[in-house]
Amino acid sequence: MDVRIVDDPARVVADLLVDVASAGGHVALAGGSTPKRAYELAAQSDADLSAATLWLGDERVVPPGDERSNGGMVRTTLCDRVPAERRPRLIEVETELGPEAAAAAYETRLREELGHHPRLDLVLLGLGPDSHTASLFPGKPALAETRRLVTGVPEAGMEPQVPRVTMTFPLLNAAREVVFLVSGADKAEALRRAFGEPPDECSPAAHVRPGAGTLTLVLDQAAGEGLQ
Ligand code: 6PG
Repeated sequence: MDVRIVDDPARVVADLLVDVASAGGHVALAGGSTPKRAYELAAQSDADLSAATLWLGDERVVPPGDERSNGGMVRTTLCDRVPAERRPRLIEVETELGPEAAAAAYETRLREELGHHPRLDLVLLGLGPDSHTASLFPGKPALAETRRLVTGVPEAGMEPQVPRVTMTFPLLNAAREVVFLVSGADKAEALRRAFGEPPDECSPAAHVRPGAGTLTLVLDQAAGEGLQ
């Protein structure tokens, strides 16, 4: 595990994202608020990202155009800001199908694109104050999923209290590179639980340990306090 405590985590992650995307990689993006600036910075790069495919690590099951949509956030902070000829492809979740059917459809699409045992090139994740990541919330059934790559989450563990669709540990831990982007003092305790020694088994993020891939934490000083 590589821990990077830096002054500008968004910059570091934007550069990582552009590197993998400009090489035509398959990238799963985090939702929530923390990665927005990293996406905006990545969009400012003049690299050709058109060979890349962007996936969503999780999505809120809200109507298209809803401001709580992670897909919508990625479109407005990244895709729509890149000229069409250099724009990456974004595979959105069909939320109108409902959580379970949308999850099944997303998994089918992943296998169509990446084969029966998909390995994402880069997975970008955030961390909630409760130590959840993607939409894998403490105490929820999705944590125990060992077969499916994407699953529906009928009840979220945090705001926004809407059903979710989330990538599961089997898919996340098969990735070539997993990067957590975490900032703010309110995340320090969650970081300690997920990545301290010993990690807290009840922390969902503690179970993101890519078997044959790398794990990097990109943190600001305040969040990094949790691991000092
Ligand atoms: C979501 C996210 C979620 C997020 C954390 C941190 O859809 O909400 O994917 O896992 O990464 O909740 O969110 P913030 O970055 O907003 O603190």
